[in-house]
Amino acid sequence: MKISPSILSADFANLQRDIELVEKSGVDYIHVDVMDGHFVPNITFGPDVIKAIRPVTKLPLDTHLMIDNPESYIDAFAEAGADIIGVHVEATAHIHRALQMIKNKNVQAEVVINPGTPVESIRHVLSMVDQVLVMTVNPGFGGQFFIEETLSKIQQLAKLKDEHGYNYDIEVDGGIVPETAKRCKEAGANVFVAGSYIYGAEQPKEKIQLLKEAVEG
Ligand code: DX5
Ligand code: ZN
Repeated sequence: MKISPSILSADFANLQRDIELVEKSGVDYIHVDVMDGHFVPNITFGPDVIKAIRPVTKLPLDTHLMIDNPESYIDAFAEAGADIIGVHVEATAHIHRALQMIKNKNVQAEVVINPGTPVESIRHVLSMVDQVLVMTVNPGFGGQFFIEETLSKIQQLAKLKDEHGYNYDIEVDGGIVPETAKRCKEAGANVFVAGSYIYGAEQPKEKIQLLKEAVEG
C-alpha cells in the first residue's frame, strides 16, 4: 500500500517545506498535478516546477499530466525528473505511442481514466503500463467528493490484472479520505492519492497515519 500526497493542496509559496513535511511523515510518492487550462479548467505546474522540487526530496515524483497532447511534453517532464508519468486516455488519439514515449525515457508509464471513461478504453495498453490511475473525481480541482461508480472499475482492473498476470499498480485519486481509501483498497487499489485531506489539516502527519491505518489494517 502506498500513499501519494498531492501538492495541489500544498502552499505553493512553501512547496519545499510542505514536501519535506509529508516525506518525514513516511509517505511513498509525491503526487504532482499538471494542468494546462485546456484538458481541465485549471492551470498549475510545468516542467520547471518539477525540476525545482526534484532536489528537495528522495521520493519518486508521481506526475499526473492533465494536459492535451501529452506527447509534446513527455520528454520535458522526464528530463525534469519525473519518476512516474501518467497520461489520460482522453487527452490523446495515440495513447499507445504516448506510453511508449514514457517508457523510452526509462520512466514508469501510467495510463489514467476519468470517471466517465470505461476500462475497455485502456484494455489494449494494460500489458505495457506500470500503473493505472482511476480518477475518483472529475479532474481539475482538489477537495471534491468521491464518485461511487468508479469502484467497479477498480474491481475490473484488479480482475484483469489477476487473470493476465499484469504488473500494474492501481492508483486512485480524488475524494480520498480513510473511509473511501478503505473501500478502494477492498476493490483492489494499492496507491492512494490525497490532497485536501492531508494538506487541509492542522496536523498532516496525523492524517497520513489515519490513511495508512485505513488501508493497511
Ligand atoms: C484532481 C487531482 C487530484 C487532487 C486530489 O484533479 O488530480 O490529485 O489533488 O485532491 P483531493 O484529494 O482533495 O480530492
Ligand atoms: Zn492527480
